[in-house]
Amino acid sequence: MLLRTAVLMFLIVCSVFIFSVCLKQISTHARTKFLELNVVEKPSQSREKLIDIPYLHYPIPVSFSRNECAHNSVLFFAILSNQRSGSGWFETLLNSHINVSSNGEVFSVLQRRKNASSILQILDKVYNLDWLNSASKNECSAAIGLKWMLNQGLMEHHKEIAEYFNRRRVSVIFLFRRNLLRRIVSLLANSYDSYAKLLNGTHKSHVHSAEEADILSKYKPTINSTSLLDDLKDMEIRAAKALEYFNSTRHMILYYEDLVRNPNMLKDVQEFLGLPPMELTSRQVKIHRGPLSDHIQNWDDVRKTLNGTDYESFLEADY
Ligand SMILES: *[C@@H]1O[C@H](CO)[C@@H](O)[C@H](O)[C@H]1NC(C)=O
Ligand SMILES: *[C@@H]1O[C@H](CO)[C@@H](O)[C@H](O)[C@H]1NC(C)=O
Ligand SMILES: *[C@@H]1O[C@H](CO)[C@@H](O)[C@H](O)[C@H]1NC(C)=O
Ligand SMILES: *[C@@H]1O[C@H](CO)[C@@H](O)[C@H](O)[C@H]1NC(C)=O
Ligand SMILES: *[C@@H]1O[C@H](CO)[C@@H](O)[C@H](O)[C@H]1NC(C)=O
Ligand SMILES: *[C@@H]1O[C@H](CO)[C@@H](O)[C@H](O)[C@H]1NC(C)=O
Repeated sequence: MLLRTAVLMFLIVCSVFIFSVCLKQISTHARTKFLELNVVEKPSQSREKLIDIPYLHYPIPVSFSRNECAHNSVLFFAILSNQRSGSGWFETLLNSHINVSSNGEVFSVLQRRKNASSILQILDKVYNLDWLNSASKNECSAAIGLKWMLNQGLMEHHKEIAEYFNRRRVSVIFLFRRNLLRRIVSLLANSYDSYAKLLNGTHKSHVHSAEEADILSKYKPTINSTSLLDDLKDMEIRAAKALEYFNSTRHMILYYEDLVRNPNMLKDVQEFLGLPPMELTSRQVKIHRGPLSDHIQNWDDVRKTLNGTDYESFLEADY
């Protein structure tokens, strides 16, 4: 009897040990995988080369006639990103190009992403140039697309969507933010402003002047330091998963920080989209500037929590 209990205890201890080792491996694996991807992938393909593989399309919209531009080819794209990662700014830059129509967060509306078939139907409409909004340049669009957040049905229905992207030759631009601590600050501040409405009683997620940015950044969020490490890890794993799901598509990976530091990267983006290169502009102004210690209420807690971890660099890095 005693022996039996001893053996049982031994087995339990063993399995707990094996399980914890497995967990550790899974999480370190996710981290390294994401870090490896920090090299910017540059699938350089000029418009001529794109013709060989049928990435260029000639849509025939039902809502209007493309007139003299009916003979201009159109490339399909999707910007896959996360909230507060610079994608709003990036999209205004793209839309400043005379031949780009990026239709915003089409799938922010829950009804539209209820199931895979309604998602694919809407994609058909977007890529047929029949999704009309203020960004539409219709007749002479050379690249047509949308902005899609990972939490807008993209991960749940990734199989059908990736299959669609490959079948219809949609090019994917991943836009991620390296400094996830700054992303958390921005998320918390934006969610605070959605009810505090600091700008004369109007909630704004993006601003166009330094004065507005200063008002919004006066609010210093408190970050939950207990869950912080897990939260950061979750964000990384999610991004790594998205890359894995849509790995088979024609894609490029961009980081917000790199784009801010090096506006020349916009040339690569235009090349990737097969566009005639242009100077791109946006009126949006960054909200949280300067050191993070100025923007976090419980800075000491956060600093202590991240000190000595993989995420230590987030404390220092700019942007
Ligand atoms: C998908 O959702 C739409 C409404 O958004 C609904 O009309 C349709 O019946 C649904 N299709 C399936 C297969 O569930
Ligand atoms: C871009 O738009 C302009 C003006 O509408 C048009 O003349 C030109 O043909 C378009 N270029 C491409 C590559 O579609
Ligand atoms: C907000 O109010 C300030 C003064 O309180 C004023 O200067 C500014 O023009 C207002 N902005 C808007 C967008 O109404
Ligand atoms: C912080 O996170 C911990 C762990 O997830 C949770 O138990 C706690 O309620 C959170 N605190 C606040 C203030 O949200
Ligand atoms: C994407 O696929 C390539 C080749 O199939 C592979 O080498 C790479 O590791 C994959 N990347 C991810 C993030 O799954
Ligand atoms: C980080 O931790 C080390 C010891 O583990 C300590 O010497 C150092 O002062 C800490 N740095 C910060 C910024 O808290």
